[in-house]
Amino acid sequence: MNKKHCTIVIFGGNGDLATRMLLPSLYHLYTDGYLPDCVSIVGAARQQLDPGAYIDLVHTKLKHYIHDEHFDEDQWKSFAGRLRYCKVDANEPEDFKAFAAFLSLSENDELVCYLSTSQKLYGAICRNLKQAGLVTADTRVVMEKPIGQSLESSKIINDNVAEIFPEQNIFRIDHYLGKETVQNILAMRFANSLFEPLWNTADIDHVQITTSETVGVEGRWSYYNDSGALRDMVQNHMLQLLALIAMEPPSDFDPDAVRNEKVKVLRSLRPIIDKDVQGHTVRGQYTSGSVDGKIVPGYCEEQGGVAESTTETFVAIRTNIDNWRWAGVPFYLRTGKRLPYRYSEVYIQFRHVPHSIFSKLGGSELQPNKLIIRLQPEESIKLLLMNKVPGLNQKGIKLKEVPLNLSLTEAFKKPRRRMAYERLFLDIIGNNTTLFVRRDEIEAAWSWTDGIIDGWQNYMEVPKSYQAGTWGPSASFALTERHGHTWHE
Ligand code: BG6
Repeated sequence: MNKKHCTIVIFGGNGDLATRMLLPSLYHLYTDGYLPDCVSIVGAARQQLDPGAYIDLVHTKLKHYIHDEHFDEDQWKSFAGRLRYCKVDANEPEDFKAFAAFLSLSENDELVCYLSTSQKLYGAICRNLKQAGLVTADTRVVMEKPIGQSLESSKIINDNVAEIFPEQNIFRIDHYLGKETVQNILAMRFANSLFEPLWNTADIDHVQITTSETVGVEGRWSYYNDSGALRDMVQNHMLQLLALIAMEPPSDFDPDAVRNEKVKVLRSLRPIIDKDVQGHTVRGQYTSGSVDGKIVPGYCEEQGGVAESTTETFVAIRTNIDNWRWAGVPFYLRTGKRLPYRYSEVYIQFRHVPHSIFSKLGGSELQPNKLIIRLQPEESIKLLLMNKVPGLNQKGIKLKEVPLNLSLTEAFKKPRRRMAYERLFLDIIGNNTTLFVRRDEIEAAWSWTDGIIDGWQNYMEVPKSYQAGTWGPSASFALTERHGHTWHE
């Protein structure tokens, strides 16, 4: 573990992400003994707050977001001893000079600057940090998504940050990579010899990746309305999942070894451009309906019924990865808000047996094997296999699909499910970028999604409506069914 003193500054330290996710994660790391004594935390934001008021704010938020059973007042007091606040306006060089004096770092101190602000401020914050003499060879910068709205705008942000920080000091967050089950994809694939020989076009029929949410836009309408489901979920989280599923085995768990393989997958995604969007993608937007037994407003009504919008809250895509391993294997991606229930999973359907010796028995149609990796809410890995139904049968043998089930919650008794940011903070402190997104990955992902966005603009502007509480527009079912597949729910 790092021996230098490390100060983590959270820009946007009084904002929603900081108080809902980042500070609770740091608190958990602290109480579990993972935050070394040499680490301290500073919240920085434009608001003038006296130090006590900031501590009170964080206290209230942590008590709200952390389950009572995991919040301890004595631990909090001691954690709060590591927490300070400083007013810093991202656009004010003078504030950064005062900030440097406030931090008064010595040569042996490392600084981590976590940008939990609008992406528009990333460049200015980096420049001002540099001008204030706060950037050394050890200083790391952490960037939240979204980084850009397109390849072009993401390049501008990345260029601005790259003027100040070398790539190895830049930590681009995709919080999905901090999830236990997402890392478990790597463990499952590369710590077992069982699956790898089957992991290719000869044995896999198709792959589905679904991230279904019951929530709407949760007060983030103006951000979301400029983004939509494709930019908000597909460009980052879903393509990262796809890359982990489809990548070649890296030589080791070194940051570049892993990321070199992921970027190759992203670059092999078959472009969906121009008219292709009509046959390969479905855009949807929810109307009012019922989710979890509650009536919820439609997307355009969330702003008091005044808004009009062509932003998609649902997207389904059929894509291909053009390389030797995956030639001819469709990858289906689906994500949406206000769907019937919340879950994320990767579903891998293997090919049918080449010939069934049971076909004359009737009544027991052979199902292809399936591997289902459930990422959330519960964590599990399920392998669906054909089995003989026990007992006698006049025709001789009766078959049924039965799951071989590995419940990770039961296999590993854990006191608490960790927040994705805990893992990521630990790696930031330990200076390990393996679970962070490299610039070329982000750009390959934007390049592919830009093709879809342009196609939508030119060939199918308006999203199809779906009632909240349903699985998206009917066209989404047609997308799989016309290729003989069915969404797994
Ligand atoms: C965020 C998106 O990146 O991920 C949100 O901006 C989405 O719109 C969230 O709700 C989903 O994350 P999780 O961890 O709840 O699956």
